[in-house]
This record gives sequence, structure tokens and C-alpha cells, in this order.
Amino acid sequence: MHAFIVTPGFEDALAAELAGAFTARPAAAPPGLWLGDRCAPEADRAGADDGGAPARDPVFARQILPDAREVSAPSVHRLAEAAYAVVEAAIDAADAPFTLHAYALQDTWPPAPRGPRREDDRGGDREDDRHDERADERADDGSAPAQSAAPARAAVPGLGSRVDLVGRQLLELLRSRRRRAFRHYRAPAPMGNGDGDQVAPGTRLVQLLALDRERLLVSVAEAVALPRGGCDLSPWPGGAAPVTIDRAPPSRAYQKLEEAFHWIGAEPTAGQTCVDLGGAPGGWAYTALKRGALVTAVDRAPLDPPAAGHRGLTALVGNAFTFAPPATQRPVDWLLCDVICEPARSIALIARWLEQRWCRRMIVTIKFKGREGYGALADVRTLFAPNNQDAAKHAAKHARPDAGPGAASGAASESGWRFARVKQLAHNKNEVTVLARER
Ligand SMILES: C[S@@+](CC[C@H](N)C(=O)[O-])C[C@H]1O[C@@H](n2cnc3c(N)ncnc32)[C@H](O)[C@@H]1O
Repeated sequence: MHAFIVTPGFEDALAAELAGAFTARPAAAPPGLWLGDRCAPEADRAGADDGGAPARDPVFARQILPDAREVSAPSVHRLAEAAYAVVEAAIDAADAPFTLHAYALQDTWPPAPRGPRREDDRGGDREDDRHDERADERADDGSAPAQSAAPARAAVPGLGSRVDLVGRQLLELLRSRRRRAFRHYRAPAPMGNGDGDQVAPGTRLVQLLALDRERLLVSVAEAVALPRGGCDLSPWPGGAAPVTIDRAPPSRAYQKLEEAFHWIGAEPTAGQTCVDLGGAPGGWAYTALKRGALVTAVDRAPLDPPAAGHRGLTALVGNAFTFAPPATQRPVDWLLCDVICEPARSIALIARWLEQRWCRRMIVTIKFKGREGYGALADVRTLFAPNNQDAAKHAAKHARPDAGPGAASGAASESGWRFARVKQLAHNKNEVTVLARER
């Protein structure tokens, strides 16, 4: 059995993505967890360099627990013994490093917004909600992450610290009974941006996922490199990349950008150029500006402080779809795009920027209405496939009169994009994030 960590409410989207590679387990899983069995033994982890087959790198799952086994026991000590019985042989079998993630499902959810919303906390998220037909199901004024539209979830107090104790006891058992193998244990790397965020291919990841106080899922699996960068196993417990709360940005949208920097393994640095399309009210812009980047923000609406007035900012009131970076700045270091529009328009915009080679890295959200239309994401994978010849065709297909020059002409040359993934981040609502970089 494989287990997948998914944003609560998006289990069906994940099931559709995995159809053909996995069949869903009939047993009910809690919101935020999807359980399935492989249809074909190697269908999910082997694969051609196709940009990342969905089963290996699902958009709607942030962590995978391959070959997970459920164990149950009434105490921490006995849970640790049961987990030991599952992982012992695998840990003993290989001379490769291993690490451990022990977590509860609730630890994979972003913290709920606290306290009254700031008066100036307007814009991005609220705009998102106008686009999202299910916005009225949300608990608050629109800033809540997607799972607020999902079935009710109850966090079990202390479950995270309990499974942490199980993890510590499991390590002690391995240390005392499997001394030689334990030499390969590596504590999880401190969380931060950059390449340190990745699980090195070949590392074995032991995962303990607490289902409740007496039941765990236990998985041990080797991280496999994805053809388009990164690994199939996330370096953060449950795929929850750390996001530091910042009260300065004018919208909470900055949280998804901070999370995206972890996933892409890079962040803007001092002096780098960023184009921020759909930048108002300025959460993303501020997040890049505070790192010393030079940001050109394009929106129909003005930005708010502290992005507005920042000396690194050039604010343009205009149409994101007709904007082209000045020739002297091409390629810009970063394309950041969080425009509210139909998925096809976002995909056409990506195709255009790829085709024109206007940026070195991109972080672009694609927003959906209701729970349909996710099939369009296959087009994004195609755009980043090696030797892609479809970007121009795609741009032509979706080009609109306002798309500007270059949108429907020319051929995409060989893709130089070493890293390209599409993920529904924990801070994404009914949207996904395209993450790509040249190197
Ligand atoms: C979700 S908000 C962006 C939030 C922003 N990333 C932040 O961190 O504050 C989407 C923005 O897209 C803008 N937008 C929608 N269509 C646009 C277009 N054609 N050109 C420029 N901006 C557009 C809206 O005005 C809105 O400010």
C-alpha cells in the first residue's frame, strides 16, 4: 500500500491523477491522506524522462509513503517495537544513509490564521476567492487555505509529540540492536532554502505517520531522483515545507511564495531581477524585495506598502498578458506570476515565457474554478518535456488577441529546464504552483 499526503478536499483530484497507476483502497482514510495499491509493480517509480509521470510526482500529493504498513499498539514503546519490526530488515540491507520523519497528519496542515485579519490584508487571497466557486464554504474571509472547504478535521492534541517519541525510541532500538547499520543514520538536515532542502537520491527515508494515538503508518523507501529535478520523497515531514510568518506583507499570499522557494530549492538574491505579474497588493513583491531583489510588478491595481514605495520596486499598471521584459533585462532571473485567470491563459503565458526565454526561473500559480479542469495540467508537463516542440503550438492554441508578440510564433527549442515540477502547495487554495529553473 502507498500512502499520499494531499490537501484535505483534494483527494479526488489526486485519485484522478493516479488512475491507471494506483487503485484506491476501499478503507476510509482520514482527510488529507489517500491510500492506494499499485496497478503495475514498477509503474510508479521507474519511468522515462517524460517530465515526471504523474504517479511519480503527483501534483496533488506533497509526500508519498511507499509500501506503507499499518501497525497498532497501545503504548509508545510498543509502537516503536512494531515500527522496528517493519524497518529493521530494510535498514540492515543497504550501506546507504537513512533518515527519519515522524509526524502526524495535522502537522502537514498550515497553521490556521490567528487573530483578526489586518485591515490592509486585502487583495490576493480575497481575489482568489472570487475566482473559486467554493469560496463561500470557507471558514473565514478568504485567507484560509484550501482545506477549510474540506470535511471537518480534528487535530488530536499531543499526537505530534507522541509520534516524535515513537521516532526517538525507534532510533534507540536501531542504535542498540543494529549498530553497524545505524552508522548510516543522518539526522534530517536543518530546514532552509537551497539545495540542502533536497533528499539526496539513494537516501532511505523512514516515515512514521501517526493516524491516531495507537496506530501508525510505517514506510521505508529509497528516494528516487525525478527526471525533471528533485526527488520523489519530500525532505520535510509530510511534505510540509517550513514557512516563517511575516507580518509585514500586505497579503498572506506571500506564504505560498515562501513555500515555493523551498520546493524550487532557490530564492531571489540581492540584485537579481524579478518580474511579478499580478503583483498587487504586494505580498510576493515584498517577499522578493526584502531579499534585495529588483522587482518589476505588473498589475491592473496599485501595490500597497511596504512593497509600494520600496526603492527596489518598479510598479507598472498594466496587463500581465501583454507585458514583455525590456530587452536589456532578458532573461530576467525570476518570473513570479499569481494572476487570477483561467488555467489556459496561465499555461499560455508560461508557454510564451518559455518560448521567448524571458526568464531563468519561474514560479507561476494556476487557479481553478470548482473541482474541475485539472486535466489541463498535463499540458504543463508537456511544456517542460525534453526536446519539447509543443510549447509554440500550445501558445498558438491558447493565444488571445491580447497575448502580444511571440505568443503564437516560433518553435520551442530543446528545453534547458533542469528542474520543473507542478505542485499543490500547502498554502495553495484551489490552485497549483508551477516551479521551474534552468539549473
Ligand atoms: C491573487 S492576486 C495576487 C496577489 C499577489 N501575488 C500578492 O502577493 O499580493 C491576483 C492579482 O492579479 C491581478 N490581475 C488579474 N488579471 C490581471 C491582468 N490581466 N493583468 C494584470 N494583473 C491582473 C489582480 O488585479 C490581482 O491583484
